[in-house]
Order: sequence, then structure tokens, then C-alpha cells
Amino acid sequence: MKAIAIDGDALVWTDHDEPGAPGAEDVLIDVAWAGMNRADLTQRAGGYPPPPGASEILGLEVSGHVRAVGDNVTHLNVGDPVCALLTGGGYAEQVRVPAAQVLPLPGGISLRDAAGLPEVFATAWMNLYMEASLKPGERILLHAGASGVGTAVIQLAKAMGNPVFVTVGSDAKIEACKALGAEAGWNRYNGSFVDAVKDWGGADMVLDPVGGDYIHQDQSVLNVNGRIVLIGLMGGRETQLDLGYMLMKRQRLIGSTLRSQPVARKREVMDALYETVWPLLASGEIKPIIDREFAIEDAAAAMDFLKSNDSQGKVLLRVAESA
Ligand SMILES: NC(=O)c1ccc[n+]([C@@H]2O[C@H](COP(=O)([O-])OP(=O)(O)OC[C@H]3O[C@@H](n4cnc5c(N)ncnc54)[C@H](OP(=O)(O)O)[C@@H]3O)[C@@H](O)[C@H]2O)c1
Repeated sequence: MKAIAIDGDALVWTDHDEPGAPGAEDVLIDVAWAGMNRADLTQRAGGYPPPPGASEILGLEVSGHVRAVGDNVTHLNVGDPVCALLTGGGYAEQVRVPAAQVLPLPGGISLRDAAGLPEVFATAWMNLYMEASLKPGERILLHAGASGVGTAVIQLAKAMGNPVFVTVGSDAKIEACKALGAEAGWNRYNGSFVDAVKDWGGADMVLDPVGGDYIHQDQSVLNVNGRIVLIGLMGGRETQLDLGYMLMKRQRLIGSTLRSQPVARKREVMDALYETVWPLLASGEIKPIIDREFAIEDAAAAMDFLKSNDSQGKVLLRVAESA
């Protein structure tokens, strides 16, 4: 098969060993489309190595057709159109993945659009409703609101009854986030978000992919019993915590990564998506937000685009010629 290889500064679509027959609990997928994530850029740069046992090939989510199933897999059949959450290996013609991480397409969603669903909706669900245990009405401060993850969080939170305040990098992105259901927003190039979030009413949870000096600011807008869920380090890995706030306001700081979770935890997340989010996608209440697509051979150009911070929603890679 062909897959993307990292060759110095280049990404090359080249021959690669096939993943091999599926284990008893696995599914082998002929990949049609791969979703691109910010983590792929970090892995390419050497900063986010795959967990032990995972494919070295980039790519955390795909859509495609089932090529083969393991002996114990009963809910999927050869030829089924599916999408899958991966630990790696998506930028390739074939990928092997535990069946627990594979879902049928939501009703009415194309194979193309489905490639951008697993990673962002799994991240949104796990962090909002499992890590932070959000209750209806609790308020969210969401950084990088127009990102792939952000566009999923805004829509999911609105559907679940959780108001959202976003921070983003342009006024146009604030408007785009409001169109998806955010109540209010702040352009991060206009200084600190703290006063604007306090004026909005503060937050019970912050979904923070930035870290760095955002953590201290997050702390000062958190209501009592608030949770900061740290999911990324785009602003740096060093920070200053105010332990006084943490103690007196009973705050919690939670570090969270989806990729390294055991399959059993990913199964819980995927089951929740199938039960709660898939019907919302099928009814049109939640939509896949796709910014643009590139051919897999142009993966480097797609990464340049993501890196520019100009994207809104997902960037997809077309892997199969017929897709
Ligand atoms: N822990 C996990 O399990 C997990 C899972 C998935 C994603 N993530 C993290 O979630 C974040 C979003 O991922 P994604 O793939 O959806 O990203 P994406 O679509 O590439 O969007 C990232 C956005 O972040 C903003 N940004 C970039 N640098 C920033 C900085 N220094 N400070 C503040 N904002 C900055 C930019 O938007 P603006 O210019 O508009 O602000 C950029 O468009 C990433 O940090 C990713 O690593 C974590």
C-alpha cells in the first residue's frame, strides 16, 4: 500500500508495508478520507511520538470501507462504510484499528465529511461530559473556538444546554463561532480575555488547548468548583498557578489526552458518540464543519494551511482516487 512518510522536511506518498490481517477484535479499513489534526503537525515535528505499539504513520481519524474483520467482531461487515478514531496510521491506504473505535456513518453524512468527526467529537465528549462532568446550564470558556475541536465543542455544548464563550484569532472567527451557537467571543489579539469572560458571567469549565500564561487567566474567570481541562500546549508548557484561587474556589486542573487512553476508555467515548451525537448529526442539529480538502499527495500543503491558523473547522485529505 501507499502511505505518507516523513522524509526530512518533506511528506512523501510512498510504498509502505500493509498493516496485516486484523486481530480478533480488529477491523481493517480501506481508507477513503483522512482527517488532519493539529497533533499531526506536532508529531511531524518530533514533539508527539506515537504511544507504544501504535503505527508510526501520521493520522488520527479516517473514513472508508471495511476490508476485513477479526473473528470476534460481530457488529461490522466487509464493505460497510465507516469512520474510525485511530492512535495513528490514518495517512495511508489501509489502517488496522480496534473495532471499538469504529462507527457506522451517521445518517445523511457523506464518507468525506465523516472523516472529520471521530477525533474532534470524541475529544469534545470525553472532556466536557466525562473529565469535567458538565451538568446542563454550566458555562464553558473555550479557547481556539474555530478549530476543528472548537467547532465540535460549540455545537455539542449548545445541544446539551451548556453556554459557550470562545476566544479566537479574528473578529470573523467570533462571528463564525456565534453562527454555530457560541454566545459570545473575544479576539485574542485584543489582549487578555479575562474582563470579557467575567462580564459574560464567568465559566464553570475551561477547555484549554493553550496552557502557558492562559492557565492563570483561566483561574481568574472560573466560578467556584470550576474545572480547567488542559488538552494542549500551544502557548507553552510552563505556567504559574495561583494556589490561593485553587484552594479557596475549589478549582480543579485536569490534564487530558485522548490518544493514549486504553481501548476500553475509547470504547466508552465512541459508544456515547453513537448514542448521543450520531442522532444529532443525522437530524442536522450538529453539522460536520469542513474548511477544505487536499489530495493526500498534498499533505504538506494542507499542514501549511492548518499551521497558518486561518482554518475554521476541519481540513481533510482525499486518500482514495474514487472518493
Ligand atoms: N488532548 C487531546 O486529547 C486533544 C485531542 C484533540 C485536539 N487537542 C488539541 O486541541 C487543539 C485544537 O486541535 P485542532 O486539531 O482542532 O486544531 P486546529 O483546527 O489546527 O486549530 C488550532 C487553532 O488554535 C489557535 N491557536 C494556534 N496557536 C495558538 C496559541 N499560541 N494561542 C492560542 N490559540 C492558538 C488558532 O486559532 P485562532 O488563531 O483563531 O486562535 C488555530 O487555528 C490543539 O491544541 C490540539 O493539540 C487535544
